[in-house]
Amino acid sequence: MLDREFTAGRMTATTRRRIVTAPGGASIPDQPSRRDDVSVTESLTESLRRSPPSLHDSPDYWGLAWDALAWLEKNVREGMSTLETGAGASTMVFAARGARHHVVTPDAEEERRIRAACEERGIDASGVTFHIARSHDVLPELDVPALDLVLVDGAHGFPYPILDWWHLAPRLKTGGRMVLDDAYLPGIAAIVDYARASDAWELEAPISFRTARIRKLRDDDPPNEADARAAHGRMSFAYLPPGRRIVASARTRIFSTRPGIWAVRKLRGPR
Ligand SMILES: C[S@@+](CC[C@H](N)C(=O)[O-])C[C@H]1O[C@@H](n2cnc3c(N)ncnc32)[C@H](O)[C@@H]1O
Repeated sequence: MLDREFTAGRMTATTRRRIVTAPGGASIPDQPSRRDDVSVTESLTESLRRSPPSLHDSPDYWGLAWDALAWLEKNVREGMSTLETGAGASTMVFAARGARHHVVTPDAEEERRIRAACEERGIDASGVTFHIARSHDVLPELDVPALDLVLVDGAHGFPYPILDWWHLAPRLKTGGRMVLDDAYLPGIAAIVDYARASDAWELEAPISFRTARIRKLRDDDPPNEADARAAHGRMSFAYLPPGRRIVASARTRIFSTRPGIWAVRKLRGPR
Protein backbone atom coordinates (compact mmCIF):
# COMPACT_ATOMS: atom_id res chain seq x y z
CA MET A 1 0.00 0.00 0.00
CA LEU A 2 1.26 3.43 -0.82
CA ASP A 3 2.03 5.71 2.07
CA ARG A 4 1.70 8.86 0.04
CA GLU A 5 -0.91 10.84 -1.77
CA PHE A 6 -0.47 12.65 -5.02
CA THR A 7 -2.52 15.29 -6.65
CA ALA A 8 -0.03 15.92 -9.45
CA GLY A 9 -1.59 15.73 -12.89
CA ARG A 10 -3.91 12.74 -13.11
CA MET A 11 -2.29 10.79 -10.36
CA THR A 12 -4.18 9.88 -7.23
CA ALA A 13 -3.46 7.42 -4.45
CA THR A 14 -4.18 7.10 -0.76
CA THR A 15 -1.84 7.98 1.99
CA ARG A 16 -1.19 9.11 5.46
CA ARG A 17 0.67 12.20 4.20
CA ARG A 18 -1.01 15.09 2.50
CA ILE A 19 0.54 16.49 -0.68
CA VAL A 20 -0.45 19.56 -2.61
CA THR A 21 0.68 20.42 -6.10
CA ALA A 22 1.00 24.02 -7.21
CA PRO A 23 0.01 25.10 -10.73
CA GLY A 24 2.64 23.84 -13.13
CA GLY A 25 3.44 20.85 -10.98
CA ALA A 26 5.67 22.55 -8.41
CA SER A 27 4.76 21.21 -5.01
CA ILE A 28 4.02 23.37 -2.00
CA PRO A 29 3.08 22.48 1.53
CA ASP A 30 -0.59 23.24 2.17
CA GLN A 31 0.02 24.27 5.80
CA PRO A 32 2.90 24.59 8.24
CA SER A 33 4.07 21.15 9.22
CA ARG A 34 4.31 19.54 12.66
CA ARG A 35 6.54 16.58 13.28
CA ASP A 36 4.02 13.76 13.34
CA ASP A 37 1.04 15.24 11.63
CA VAL A 38 2.99 16.55 8.70
CA SER A 39 1.66 18.24 5.67
CA VAL A 40 4.48 17.86 3.21
CA THR A 41 4.79 18.05 -0.49
CA GLU A 42 5.98 15.24 -2.62
CA SER A 43 6.14 15.41 -6.36
CA LEU A 44 6.17 12.30 -8.49
CA THR A 45 9.86 12.94 -9.14
CA GLU A 46 10.59 12.99 -5.43
CA SER A 47 8.59 9.81 -4.96
CA LEU A 48 10.43 8.07 -7.81
CA ARG A 49 13.71 9.26 -6.40
CA ARG A 50 12.86 7.83 -3.00
CA SER A 51 11.90 4.45 -4.44
CA PRO A 52 13.17 4.17 -8.03
CA PRO A 53 11.19 1.62 -10.03
CA SER A 54 12.98 -1.04 -12.03
CA LEU A 55 11.58 -0.46 -15.51
CA HIS A 56 14.37 -1.68 -17.74
CA ASP A 57 16.14 -4.97 -18.20
CA SER A 58 18.28 -4.25 -15.15
CA PRO A 59 17.66 -3.95 -11.42
CA ASP A 60 19.17 -0.44 -11.53
CA TYR A 61 17.38 2.82 -12.19
CA TRP A 62 18.19 3.81 -15.76
CA GLY A 63 16.16 6.94 -16.04
CA LEU A 64 16.62 10.64 -16.64
CA ALA A 65 18.57 12.72 -14.14
CA TRP A 66 16.23 13.80 -11.31
CA ASP A 67 16.46 17.46 -12.33
CA ALA A 68 15.34 16.54 -15.83
CA LEU A 69 12.46 14.46 -14.51
CA ALA A 70 11.42 17.36 -12.27
CA TRP A 71 11.60 19.72 -15.25
CA LEU A 72 9.28 17.44 -17.23
CA GLU A 73 6.90 17.21 -14.31
CA LYS A 74 6.79 20.99 -14.09
CA ASN A 75 6.51 21.73 -17.81
CA VAL A 76 4.31 19.00 -19.27
CA ARG A 77 0.69 20.15 -19.19
CA GLU A 78 -2.53 18.22 -19.54
CA GLY A 79 -3.47 17.66 -23.19
CA MET A 80 -0.01 18.45 -24.56
CA SER A 81 1.02 16.40 -27.56
CA THR A 82 4.32 14.73 -26.68
CA LEU A 83 6.64 11.95 -27.82
CA GLU A 84 9.73 10.25 -26.46
CA THR A 85 12.21 7.78 -27.86
CA GLY A 86 13.12 5.29 -25.13
CA ALA A 87 10.84 4.67 -22.17
CA GLY A 88 10.96 4.59 -18.40
CA ALA A 89 10.41 6.94 -15.47
CA SER A 90 9.99 9.79 -17.96
CA THR A 91 7.01 7.92 -19.46
CA MET A 92 5.41 7.78 -16.01
CA VAL A 93 5.81 11.55 -15.67
CA PHE A 94 4.28 12.24 -19.10
CA ALA A 95 1.37 9.97 -18.14
CA ALA A 96 0.90 11.55 -14.71
CA ARG A 97 0.80 15.02 -16.22
CA GLY A 98 -1.97 13.99 -18.64
CA ALA A 99 -0.10 14.37 -21.94
CA ARG A 100 -1.29 12.68 -25.13
CA HIS A 101 1.95 10.82 -25.24
CA HIS A 102 3.67 8.56 -27.79
CA VAL A 103 6.56 6.31 -26.76
CA VAL A 104 8.92 4.46 -29.09
CA THR A 105 10.90 1.57 -27.63
CA PRO A 106 11.81 -1.83 -29.06
CA ASP A 107 11.25 -3.55 -25.71
CA ALA A 108 7.66 -4.73 -25.17
CA GLU A 109 8.54 -5.73 -21.59
CA GLU A 110 9.17 -2.05 -20.80
CA GLU A 111 5.59 -1.22 -21.71
CA ARG A 112 4.35 -3.96 -19.37
CA ARG A 113 6.57 -2.76 -16.49
CA ILE A 114 5.74 0.91 -16.99
CA ARG A 115 1.99 0.31 -17.15
CA ALA A 116 2.23 -1.85 -14.01
CA ALA A 117 4.30 0.81 -12.19
CA CYS A 118 1.77 3.48 -13.18
CA GLU A 119 -1.10 1.37 -11.91
CA GLU A 120 0.72 0.72 -8.65
CA ARG A 121 1.09 4.46 -8.07
CA GLY A 122 -2.39 5.38 -9.23
CA ILE A 123 -1.25 7.03 -12.44
CA ASP A 124 -3.69 6.98 -15.35
CA ALA A 125 -1.61 5.90 -18.37
CA SER A 126 -4.53 5.69 -20.80
CA GLY A 127 -3.19 8.70 -22.74
CA VAL A 128 0.07 6.87 -23.52
CA THR A 129 0.54 4.97 -26.79
CA PHE A 130 3.50 2.64 -27.12
CA HIS A 131 5.10 1.86 -30.47
CA ILE A 132 7.19 -1.25 -29.97
CA ALA A 133 9.98 -0.79 -32.51
CA ARG A 134 13.37 0.80 -33.01
CA SER A 135 12.90 4.53 -33.51
CA HIS A 136 14.79 4.72 -36.81
CA ASP A 137 12.45 2.03 -38.20
CA VAL A 138 9.16 3.50 -37.02
CA LEU A 139 9.61 7.28 -36.91
CA PRO A 140 9.74 7.93 -40.68
CA GLU A 141 6.14 6.67 -41.07
CA LEU A 142 4.73 7.43 -37.63
CA ASP A 143 1.43 9.26 -37.75
CA VAL A 144 1.33 11.65 -34.77
CA PRO A 145 -0.19 15.10 -34.27
CA ALA A 146 2.09 18.16 -34.21
CA LEU A 147 4.21 17.87 -31.07
CA ASP A 148 4.65 20.34 -28.19
CA LEU A 149 7.50 18.48 -26.53
CA VAL A 150 9.87 15.68 -27.54
CA LEU A 151 12.32 13.73 -25.39
CA VAL A 152 15.17 12.02 -27.25
CA ASP A 153 16.48 9.26 -24.95
CA GLY A 154 16.36 6.06 -27.00
CA ALA A 155 19.37 4.47 -28.72
CA HIS A 156 22.37 6.65 -27.88
CA GLY A 157 25.08 5.52 -30.31
CA PHE A 158 25.85 7.44 -33.48
CA PRO A 159 23.76 8.08 -35.61
CA TYR A 160 20.54 7.14 -33.78
CA PRO A 161 19.95 10.36 -31.81
CA ILE A 162 20.57 12.33 -35.00
CA LEU A 163 18.02 10.19 -36.85
CA ASP A 164 15.53 10.79 -34.02
CA TRP A 165 16.13 14.53 -34.29
CA TRP A 166 15.85 14.44 -38.10
CA HIS A 167 12.50 12.64 -38.08
CA LEU A 168 11.05 14.52 -35.13
CA ALA A 169 12.15 18.10 -35.85
CA PRO A 170 9.54 18.60 -38.63
CA ARG A 171 6.81 17.21 -36.35
CA LEU A 172 7.65 19.63 -33.54
CA LYS A 173 5.50 22.76 -33.42
CA THR A 174 7.21 26.11 -33.83
CA GLY A 175 8.08 27.11 -30.27
CA GLY A 176 8.08 23.43 -29.25
CA ARG A 177 10.95 21.97 -27.23
CA MET A 178 13.19 18.99 -27.69
CA VAL A 179 14.92 17.57 -24.62
CA LEU A 180 18.15 15.69 -25.35
CA ASP A 181 19.49 13.41 -22.66
CA ASP A 182 23.16 12.39 -22.34
CA ALA A 183 24.14 15.41 -24.38
CA TYR A 184 27.86 14.80 -23.79
CA LEU A 185 27.78 11.84 -26.23
CA PRO A 186 28.98 12.65 -29.78
CA GLY A 187 25.69 12.01 -31.62
CA ILE A 188 23.71 14.19 -29.23
CA ALA A 189 26.45 16.82 -28.91
CA ALA A 190 26.29 17.20 -32.71
CA ILE A 191 22.59 18.14 -32.47
CA VAL A 192 23.38 20.64 -29.70
CA ASP A 193 26.21 22.15 -31.79
CA TYR A 194 23.90 22.47 -34.77
CA ALA A 195 21.13 24.08 -32.73
CA ARG A 196 23.58 26.52 -31.13
CA ALA A 197 24.73 27.76 -34.54
CA SER A 198 21.36 27.65 -36.31
CA ASP A 199 18.89 30.51 -36.37
CA ALA A 200 16.06 27.97 -36.71
CA TRP A 201 16.74 26.69 -33.15
CA GLU A 202 17.50 28.18 -29.79
CA LEU A 203 19.74 26.41 -27.33
CA GLU A 204 18.12 26.99 -23.94
CA ALA A 205 19.59 26.61 -20.47
CA PRO A 206 20.49 22.99 -19.69
CA ILE A 207 17.99 21.07 -17.60
CA SER A 208 20.53 18.92 -15.78
CA PHE A 209 24.25 18.25 -15.90
CA ARG A 210 23.59 15.83 -18.76
CA THR A 211 20.33 17.03 -20.29
CA ALA A 212 20.16 19.72 -22.97
CA ARG A 213 17.10 21.51 -24.26
CA ILE A 214 16.52 23.14 -27.64
CA ARG A 215 13.55 25.15 -28.89
CA LYS A 216 12.38 25.17 -32.49
CA LEU A 217 12.00 28.69 -33.89
CA ARG A 218 11.07 27.73 -37.44
CA ASP A 219 11.32 24.93 -39.99
CA ASP A 220 14.70 24.73 -41.60
CA ASP A 221 16.82 22.40 -43.68
CA PRO A 222 20.43 22.22 -42.55
CA PRO A 223 22.79 23.68 -45.17
CA ASN A 224 24.17 21.53 -47.98
CA GLU A 225 27.39 23.42 -48.59
CA ALA A 226 30.69 22.31 -47.07
CA ASP A 227 31.26 25.72 -45.53
CA ALA A 228 31.35 27.25 -42.08
CA ARG A 229 27.55 27.09 -41.74
CA ALA A 230 27.65 23.34 -42.40
CA ALA A 231 30.38 23.06 -39.77
CA HIS A 232 27.81 24.47 -37.34
CA GLY A 233 30.47 26.03 -35.20
CA ARG A 234 32.84 23.08 -34.98
CA MET A 235 35.42 21.57 -37.28
CA SER A 236 37.42 18.47 -36.45
CA PHE A 237 40.64 17.43 -38.14
CA ALA A 238 41.07 14.30 -36.03
CA TYR A 239 41.23 12.09 -39.17
CA LEU A 240 44.66 13.60 -39.98
CA PRO A 241 47.93 12.70 -38.27
CA PRO A 242 48.61 15.27 -35.50
CA GLY A 243 51.36 17.06 -37.45
CA ARG A 244 49.03 17.91 -40.34
CA ARG A 245 46.07 19.01 -38.24
CA ILE A 246 47.28 22.52 -37.43
CA VAL A 247 48.02 23.41 -41.06
CA ALA A 248 44.76 21.92 -42.36
CA SER A 249 42.79 23.64 -39.62
CA ALA A 250 44.36 27.06 -40.24
CA ARG A 251 43.94 26.73 -44.00
CA THR A 252 40.31 25.65 -43.83
CA ARG A 253 39.38 28.27 -41.26
CA ILE A 254 40.98 31.00 -43.35
CA PHE A 255 39.44 29.96 -46.65
CA SER A 256 36.01 28.76 -45.60
CA THR A 257 34.85 30.60 -42.51
CA ARG A 258 33.28 34.02 -42.48
CA PRO A 259 35.98 35.70 -40.33
CA GLY A 260 38.68 34.00 -42.43
CA ILE A 261 37.21 35.19 -45.73
CA TRP A 262 36.80 38.68 -44.24
CA ALA A 263 40.47 38.69 -43.18
CA VAL A 264 41.66 37.55 -46.64
CA ARG A 265 39.59 40.30 -48.33
CA LYS A 266 41.06 42.89 -45.98
CA LEU A 267 44.60 41.73 -46.72
CA ARG A 268 43.99 41.85 -50.46
CA GLY A 269 42.68 45.38 -50.16
CA PRO A 270 40.22 47.05 -52.57
CA ARG A 271 40.29 45.85 -56.20
C1 LIG B 1 18.22 5.36 -20.95
S1 LIG B 1 16.77 4.44 -21.29
C2 LIG B 1 15.52 5.67 -21.31
C3 LIG B 1 15.24 6.17 -19.94
C4 LIG B 1 13.94 6.90 -19.78
N1 LIG B 1 13.91 8.15 -20.50
C5 LIG B 1 13.67 7.13 -18.32
O1 LIG B 1 13.53 8.29 -17.88
O2 LIG B 1 13.63 6.14 -17.57
C6 LIG B 1 17.00 4.08 -23.00
C7 LIG B 1 15.75 3.54 -23.67
O3 LIG B 1 15.96 3.44 -25.06
C8 LIG B 1 15.35 2.28 -25.53
N2 LIG B 1 15.96 1.95 -26.82
C9 LIG B 1 17.06 1.21 -27.11
N3 LIG B 1 17.25 1.14 -28.45
C10 LIG B 1 16.27 1.89 -29.01
C11 LIG B 1 15.92 2.21 -30.35
N4 LIG B 1 16.64 1.76 -31.39
N5 LIG B 1 14.84 3.01 -30.56
C12 LIG B 1 14.11 3.46 -29.51
N6 LIG B 1 14.39 3.18 -28.22
C13 LIG B 1 15.45 2.41 -27.98
C14 LIG B 1 15.60 1.28 -24.42
O4 LIG B 1 14.74 0.17 -24.55
C15 LIG B 1 15.30 2.16 -23.22
O5 LIG B 1 13.92 2.24 -23.02
